[in-house]
Amino acid sequence: MIENVAVPPAAPLCDAHAAHVAAPAIPTHILDNPRPLVSPLGIVDHALMMSRYQSPLRYPGAKSSLAPVIARILDAAKGSRAVPEINLLVEPFAGGASASLRLVGQGLVDRVLLADVDPLVTAFWQTAAADTEALIDRMHDEWTRYVKPGGVTAVDRWDYWRSWVPTRKAKPATVRLDLATQCLFLNRTTFSGILHGKAGPIGGRKQASPYGIGCRWNPEAIEERLRYVGHLYEVGRIVDVWHKDWQQTLDDVPSYYPQLIPSRVVAYLDPPYIEKASHLYRTSFDPRGGYGGNRAGKAGSDDHMLHMQLAGYLRTKAQFRWLLSYDNNPMLTESTWLYAHTRMAPSRVDREMLGVRSWPLTKRLVKTRYSASGKTGKRNADELLITTLPPSTVPVDHQLRELP
Ligand SMILES: C[S@@+](CC[C@H](N)C(=O)[O-])C[C@H]1O[C@@H](n2cnc3c(N)ncnc32)[C@H](O)[C@@H]1O
Repeated sequence: MIENVAVPPAAPLCDAHAAHVAAPAIPTHILDNPRPLVSPLGIVDHALMMSRYQSPLRYPGAKSSLAPVIARILDAAKGSRAVPEINLLVEPFAGGASASLRLVGQGLVDRVLLADVDPLVTAFWQTAAADTEALIDRMHDEWTRYVKPGGVTAVDRWDYWRSWVPTRKAKPATVRLDLATQCLFLNRTTFSGILHGKAGPIGGRKQASPYGIGCRWNPEAIEERLRYVGHLYEVGRIVDVWHKDWQQTLDDVPSYYPQLIPSRVVAYLDPPYIEKASHLYRTSFDPRGGYGGNRAGKAGSDDHMLHMQLAGYLRTKAQFRWLLSYDNNPMLTESTWLYAHTRMAPSRVDREMLGVRSWPLTKRLVKTRYSASGKTGKRNADELLITTLPPSTVPVDHQLRELP
């Protein structure tokens, strides 16, 4: 059983995301400091706990179809000597958090910690978790006054939220609720759920399509999903929501939850894809920022530095086991700057000082229905999974194929 622990003071916002934060910044954690683990854990008791669709966000690149496969891998590892239980699943690229919600709802992991660098996304999850009723009220209000009437009223409101930025004088709690409302509004009314950039309102500016701006806004369904998130937070299953860069998240987990290191915590990482991601997220791994510059979202040879930084960290510094999903780009498994290696290679200092292990890397291919571009509808594509979970536990079969 995990005991409550005293937590060190909140870390300051790191430079990597300070650049993206409109003033005033949203909090780094839900409370002033990271929330301690609640123990004993409350029971998850909600109609959506086993449902396929649980996230209130329709997120580009969402991993709801991959969640059952991730569940299989975690379930197979659980109970092994190396991974007796998964007391915490950390999702540093949370986005729509579909995998985390599913895994914790099914009871495959005890708790989840969500983190993302996009302030809209983290404000949304922080508010959905800890200020659920206020966000539900705002959601109904936006629906009744703007989205339901449709036409010019709705498109004007879309323009309002698209250009809205918090004023410097606004109180942090108000800013967080406003950002959460902005996130939900834009996610539900914009083509493919894309929050920033060039994507327009569903149904077009003239609203001439039979699928108008409100066609993805079902107030009762959204309310139920928001309540599910609030419930998970209340019973201690969503531990916290961090507004941090992935590296800060991975660095901070061992200091805030040391009792779980190394064998009771696993990270699930779903970074922006190598291709096209700069069109989908404000913070992609494209060094020119989000929205693809002028190259239609195609990655160039100089664009992979951030992917390499992540790979370097995961191969040499990660203090707990991880599972990573990517688009199946051959470069990922061919380049020694990425994941061509067969095991982690920490430095002697990191082994001795931080206890970093040299876990083997196991790779699998999974067929998924992919819809990240939003323009071409769903198509079949292979997703690459790489993990440091014990190799003998990682299933191999028609669903989880070995690399050729
Ligand atoms: C592929 S999406 C995650 C989708 C998510 N797994 C889901 O099912 O909805 C990638 C996410 O990474 C976030 N992101 C991009 N760069 C980041 C960084 N440096 N640190 C943390 N999050 C980042 C983006 O804001 C985006 O939400």
